[in-house]
Amino acid sequence: MTKVLIADKFPEAYIEELRRNNLEVIVEPGLNADNLAEAAKNVDILVVRSTVVNEKTINESEQLNLIIRAGAGYNNIDVAAANKKGVYVANCPGKNAVAVAELTIGLMLSLDRRIPDNVSDFRKGIWNKSEYSKANGLMGKTLAIVGYGNIGREVAKRAKEFGMSIYAKDISRIEGYGVKTFDEFSKMLPTADVISIHLPETPETKNLFNKEMLSYMKDGAYLINTSRPGVIDEEALIEAVKSKKLRVALDVFSDEPSGKSGEVHSRLMELDNVYVTHHIGASTEQAQNAVAEETVKIILTFIQSGVIAHWINRAQKTPTSYQLVVKHYDRPGVLASVLDVLRQDDINIEEMENIIFDGGVVACCTMKLDKAASSEMLNEMKANKNVLTVSHVSTEN
Ligand code: 3PG
Repeated sequence: MTKVLIADKFPEAYIEELRRNNLEVIVEPGLNADNLAEAAKNVDILVVRSTVVNEKTINESEQLNLIIRAGAGYNNIDVAAANKKGVYVANCPGKNAVAVAELTIGLMLSLDRRIPDNVSDFRKGIWNKSEYSKANGLMGKTLAIVGYGNIGREVAKRAKEFGMSIYAKDISRIEGYGVKTFDEFSKMLPTADVISIHLPETPETKNLFNKEMLSYMKDGAYLINTSRPGVIDEEALIEAVKSKKLRVALDVFSDEPSGKSGEVHSRLMELDNVYVTHHIGASTEQAQNAVAEETVKIILTFIQSGVIAHWINRAQKTPTSYQLVVKHYDRPGVLASVLDVLRQDDINIEEMENIIFDGGVVACCTMKLDKAASSEMLNEMKANKNVLTVSHVSTEN
């Protein structure tokens, strides 16, 4: 029986659904980076939210086949270690986008009206209508969305209803909701009243908001980060908060505790202009149900068909330059004879797909090769009476 370990909080209804599908499901939401290796030793599928899946967990696992990040960002999983062991990694992109966008809007309003400070003073018995009556309002203000994927788009939709003028920047696409694109940070950021970051943490985005970027921002502008802490240089941010009176709201920060409750320490606590929430962007019932539904779908599809939805660690491009397409009768040994010809000349197959035509008589096998097959080899393949056609092309430009 396939064993699934869920090492984070997961909605009960979806655990039951997995069990109804004859899976052995172990639920241990209290696991952490240090004790996950032991717990995951004999499981086939591991599901995590923010629990860290390190190299040790992956290397010491005896039958781990698939790790699912029940969320969007997967930088808590050592994907390089998974690659080396042939463990599939998948995520659930977009499923918690609405929840993160909702929090972003909440933080935007909080920064403008200083809602957390209002409440905090009230709890201390302080009445300060004169101070808290100073707010800009969001209507007519300019919002720059940095990172325009699933979450950025949900933020844009909502901000548009507030009558904001919206600009967005994304590596791959800008579309919809009357959003304008911007290319240069140095021109856009000085005009933005609010900047909201929705980027994954990658080598390209690491410390993107550094001293120079922050220097482009208007004095007193609002900066919101609900994505990953690494996209902001926190030292530079602390300086900019002081020198430019930026107002900042962060759902993620560098000293975020790895556990789910306990103490927290951060230099950000000392800054009145900085609001920090407890990495709760994705934590609404709606989002967690959507993520859980997707996770169950990924698991069941994988078990039933071997196909992995939202497969992260599939090579985008293999180092192949040649494609071989063999149409053949769908009979035993035909492909083996083709592979044997390739083996003789030490040609490696980087990728291979065999598709059957309706009726099951003929199949078509497409192979990506690291070296060219010679015309003699192609003739040898064609000599098999069960091979119908062989075509070989160079895919090099
Ligand atoms: C994500 O990448 O999906 C969010 O950061 C959510 O993280 P969480 O599932 O730990 O709340």
